[in-house]
Amino acid sequence: MTILVTGGAGFIGSNFVLDWLATCDEAVVNVDKLTYAGNLQNLASVQHDARHVFVRGDIVDYDLVLGLLQRHGIRAVVNFAAESHVDRSIHGPEDFIQTNIVGSFRLLEAVRAYWGNLDADARAAFRFLHVSTDEVYGSLAIGEPPFAETHPYQPNSPYSASKAASDHLVRAYHHTYGLPVLTTNCSNNYGPYHFPEKLIPLCIQNALSGKPLPIYGDGQQIRDWLYVQDHCSAIRRVLEDGRLGEVYNIGGWNEKANLDVVKTLCTMLDELQPRSDGKPYAEQIVFVTDRPGHDRRYAIDARKLERELGWRPVETFETGIRKTVAWYLAHQDWVANVMSGDYQSWLDKNYEDR
Ligand code: NAD
Ligand code: DAU
Repeated sequence: MTILVTGGAGFIGSNFVLDWLATCDEAVVNVDKLTYAGNLQNLASVQHDARHVFVRGDIVDYDLVLGLLQRHGIRAVVNFAAESHVDRSIHGPEDFIQTNIVGSFRLLEAVRAYWGNLDADARAAFRFLHVSTDEVYGSLAIGEPPFAETHPYQPNSPYSASKAASDHLVRAYHHTYGLPVLTTNCSNNYGPYHFPEKLIPLCIQNALSGKPLPIYGDGQQIRDWLYVQDHCSAIRRVLEDGRLGEVYNIGGWNEKANLDVVKTLCTMLDELQPRSDGKPYAEQIVFVTDRPGHDRRYAIDARKLERELGWRPVETFETGIRKTVAWYLAHQDWVANVMSGDYQSWLDKNYEDR
């Protein structure tokens, strides 16, 4: 048996592939376009593993995807491939529309064609799991209950609007064609291989390099943080036993204000790798112009996943963030390799006027 993972060279996808191969013997075909966010170094440890087949390709390419499904006799698809960074979607939404909407559509079409020709048993066993985000639900006020799966969609950024569109397509393919789909909507992930354009790895790296730690607006925006391996275990659980056509919210029960997250990182770095001048890293915190349309608060109600499938996160924020900081300190070579080319020009573009 073989599964197809899309976007498996990115942050969460590569963690998922590594965890999958570490926990079971089933092979993985990994199709990834290798945009600026895709990095084969994340997968170096499985480079010679015969159970991992990497294919550089675009989910927009119907023929390529259909060929992979047929050639490898795929029994499940896990769709991570996306443009994922909100700030980039504000500067240039086009790629988000292409990959997150058109790409998801073409992928669904290829899967529908393949699935429609399977024999009855294989059709019944087949799964399409779509990995989505809590951002599709919009922003919560302080005191409002966390997002349940029934929360109305209210995406506020081009990124979240494009993810919402893909969620709707997935839902429609189940309702109209009976495609056996599952959708997961997860909160903010952090952990190894997180691209240093996102808050946590950016601040770890800037701290170590003596650069400012840029806090958008007042830093009181709240995110619900989940260690990436907990996200991966939740996806495996939903893939195993999730009810067809259902949505499962995944979260860490870890609501934190951005400023508190960055202060925690600073304290941890003070302990693990103190500044050479003995001063606290928190001195590098600066407040910069806010993100346009910045959502104030996300929080996930993950009780359905716990009730139906018995999943709960293993890591607390404190254990997960310690592992994460330790990983970045031990993998400065990985960071150095991604801190070039497109990434450098992105930093100039995003932060120069803030
Ligand atoms: P990422 O940006 O790190 O990785 C995305 C991967 O998709 C990259 O390897 C990239 O090369 C690949 N890709 C992009 N366009 C492609 C295309 N057209 N065809 C094939 N591959 C393509 O993203 P991530 O943070 O790992 O997120 C993975 C998924 O999880 C996304 O769908 C995202 O919306 C969702 N998600 C992310 C988070 C988070 O906190 N990072 C939280 C919830 C949900
Ligand atoms: O909620 C899930 C989402 O989490 C995923 O769907 C997205 O793919 C993922 O990128 C992430 O989106 P965010 O916008 O929440 O992540 P980011 O790391 O970009 O920002 C986290 C918070 O920190 C957000 O409130 C903006 C703020 N921020 C971010 C950066 C990059 C800053 O204050 N300063 C910064 O320099």
